[in-house]
Amino acid sequence: MNALAELLRRRIAVRGPLTVAEYMTEALTHPKHGYYARRDPLGLSGDFVTAPEISQMFGELIGLWCAVVWQSMGKPSPVLLVELGPGRGTLLGDALRATRDVPGFHQAVALHLVEISRTLRERQAETLGKANLFRDPTWHDGVADLPDGPSLILANEFFDALPIRQFQRVAEGWRERLVDMDDRPPGLRFVLSPVIPLSPLIPNALHDTPIGGIAEVSPAGLSLAHHIGDKVARFGGAALILDYGPARTTSGDTLQAVRGHRYHDALVDPGNADLTAYVDFQSLARAGEEGGAAAFGPMPQGDFLVRLGLNARAESLLIAADNRQAREIRAAQQRLADPAQMGTLFKVLALQNKTLPTPPGFD
Ligand SMILES: C[S@@+](CC[C@H](N)C(=O)[O-])C[C@H]1O[C@@H](n2cnc3c(N)ncnc32)[C@H](O)[C@@H]1O
Repeated sequence: MNALAELLRRRIAVRGPLTVAEYMTEALTHPKHGYYARRDPLGLSGDFVTAPEISQMFGELIGLWCAVVWQSMGKPSPVLLVELGPGRGTLLGDALRATRDVPGFHQAVALHLVEISRTLRERQAETLGKANLFRDPTWHDGVADLPDGPSLILANEFFDALPIRQFQRVAEGWRERLVDMDDRPPGLRFVLSPVIPLSPLIPNALHDTPIGGIAEVSPAGLSLAHHIGDKVARFGGAALILDYGPARTTSGDTLQAVRGHRYHDALVDPGNADLTAYVDFQSLARAGEEGGAAAFGPMPQGDFLVRLGLNARAESLLIAADNRQAREIRAAQQRLADPAQMGTLFKVLALQNKTLPTPPGFD
């Protein structure tokens, strides 16, 4: 049993079982033992690969999306360009390179990165510094620390890392799925709470979940979407949220652990495997609207990227590519947009100030 599992068992012994959200929070963000505390998990040598790491085209198209929305906002200066969980900084690096020639855009941008991982902050500084793309980004631990002002906010594979609570439908109502100690390896196990009045926490669409079915709620995700909706409504701007999950609120257990590109038991070796859950886009859109924003989407990532010009960008990269590069460009284009790969499971949601026109890709 690792140090974090021991620590969680001691906490459970004193305070009782943890919610799945509490377990995820500790496993992902514990300052010493959490998954994101010490490592760079991205890439082939890590645990997973994200869209910006697959191809420069992804960040480039999103950069151009930002520039067009900024123009539709009346070109405010400064404008906060915020990324939540920027990983290695690859998306921003590509986005900024692609927008170098947009008159006034770089001069207007103040770069703000929300990142808890000190290791990844160093990678982000390296990526942006190496490309000589941007001076002095400001890092924050959370969105609450961001300054006020018109903003363009990007979040790719960020919401799936936010903690969820899980509830199981039983004949008498709902019980919460909790993490308790176990005498047998791995030392932790899932248990169910007693039946208590949990139904106010269950999304409306899931009240008819069949007996045995699981409903998931991400209070952290919903409050973040509400905060973003409020921010763009009050100060102007837009947010683009890209992640995986169904377009409509759906029941099911989607908590998953991944290590070395393989599925892993979520309770084994906490802090050493990535833990994620599907993003409930319908509820995020609603939370953003309740914050005061207009919501667009969710739309499948493949359709969105093609509408932004993925195929044309691939063709232009192919002109100067050798055979190996051409194969890589084609493979990346497919991986990002093909319905059998990331094209359909991944969705895109925009939350923006109600005075702005429909954002690119959503018309
Ligand atoms: C799955 S990675 C995605 C990285 C990047 N957006 C990409 O697409 O390559 C999640 C990112 O969010 C950061 N992160 C996770 N949970 C966080 C939290 N609660 N607050 C701030 N950053 C967080 C991680 O350190 C990492 O940079």
